Amino acid sequence: MPVSAFDLVIRNGTVVTATDVFKGDVGVTRGQIAAIGQKLAPGREEIDARGKLVLPGGIDSHTHIEQLSAAGIMNADTFESATRAAAFGGTTTVISFAAQHKGMSLRKVVDDYSVLAARGAMVDYAFHMIVSDPTEATLTRDLPALIAEGHASIKLFMTYDKLKVEDETLLDVLAVAREHKALVCVHAENHGMIAWMGRKLLAEGKTAPKYHAVSHPRASETEAFTRLISAAALIDQPIMIFHVSTAEGAAIVGDARRQGLKVFAETCPQYLFLTAADLDRPGLEGAKFMCSPPPRDKSDQEALWAALALGDLQTVSSDHAPYRFDASGKLSGGPNSTFKQIANGLPGLETRMPLMFDAMVSKKRPEFAGQALQSFVNLTATQPARIYNLAGKGNIAVGLDADIAIWDANRRVTLTDALMVGNTGYTPFAGRTVKGWPETVLVRGRTVARDGATVGPPGSGRHILRTGGWAAEPTGG
Ligand code: URP
Ligand code: ZN
Ligand code: ZN
Repeated sequence: MPVSAFDLVIRNGTVVTATDVFKGDVGVTRGQIAAIGQKLAPGREEIDARGKLVLPGGIDSHTHIEQLSAAGIMNADTFESATRAAAFGGTTTVISFAAQHKGMSLRKVVDDYSVLAARGAMVDYAFHMIVSDPTEATLTRDLPALIAEGHASIKLFMTYDKLKVEDETLLDVLAVAREHKALVCVHAENHGMIAWMGRKLLAEGKTAPKYHAVSHPRASETEAFTRLISAAALIDQPIMIFHVSTAEGAAIVGDARRQGLKVFAETCPQYLFLTAADLDRPGLEGAKFMCSPPPRDKSDQEALWAALALGDLQTVSSDHAPYRFDASGKLSGGPNSTFKQIANGLPGLETRMPLMFDAMVSKKRPEFAGQALQSFVNLTATQPARIYNLAGKGNIAVGLDADIAIWDANRRVTLTDALMVGNTGYTPFAGRTVKGWPETVLVRGRTVARDGATVGPPGSGRHILRTGGWAAEPTGG
């Protein structure tokens, strides 16, 4: 028996990175990419990728998994079901949240989420630490130690009654992050405007889901972005602005970056493919499309695509925040829930990559002409790996983890509730037909999904610790 040179060879595919597209073979040994070239020696296992695209697995850097909302509603996915959905949709690494609520020890929160993820995850993972109770012990003891241990990013909320930090506390956390080299990610909306609008709408009897969008005025985004960017500049601390939803928001981020400020930003498929009109459905059906900030309008979609192409926005995450459309989730306030009682968030882990591939590669969004495949890889894998310091991830190169999705660019799939493998029970993108599907998905050389079936197993995902602190370049796209 000849000795195989590699554990696995992915042969004759079209390999795509953020900068290149070329035909070749990828050799994998002990979970890492050992060689890239033509006519590689045999592998113990071989995958014939002729006619297929060999892409880095997706990195979804904003996902809520097994997380209790501030209103006390448990989201629908466990680490097992969420990472099954990730694998199914071509994503091989997720960053989810270790979510502190008031009165909780941040250390215990991180330990508890680590146990849940170690038990269930079938793709690799890391955590952003949500800080909602920045006590002396959190700021001076737990945060510095946890950052040093590899949890190199913090998440803050500027809205939500039970989670929000005020300006002074925002500065405290930015200063700790600067000292210990963590990235600070922020949900930036003006809380007062949203609360005031909500009260006013309810007083007028306007309770339907569509009023959720009205209650988050565009100015709530621009005001909070401006205040946040000013605070971060004062401390000279890099920030990541989550889920940019408006044209004005994207412009503020772009202007800040052009001034040399250390500002990153993401958007999500819900802001690229949905609009506020989706919330206007009979009964409470619009609740399925309710997230914060809300989807806006067509002109915002166009501006966000332009900002992605320009590099003003650097990543597209799902902000997967799954709540079932029943009494355990969206409808926990009963059949007459007002928009204020309905949990915010959409499922998106399994649809993010196919939706983006379809729009950028198959439907050829004009902003990415000539660079569609590379830009898709850049926005969904390479940039998130770089920005969040996920060593070994986000690219196809010798020495990196063999996190690979093999795509059939011609396969058409209609997204339906029944197709979804996560626990949410619906997708807000139901009815859309996408062209392009990740048919084989590998995490560190191990197959986790093939032909629509996920093969796990739970617990095989690895915790990616980001030691050495935050290391990405602050500017440069
Ligand atoms: O509506 C959303 N996005 N819910 C999840 C929590 C958050 O705001 O990120
Ligand atoms: Zn948010
Ligand atoms: Zn979120």
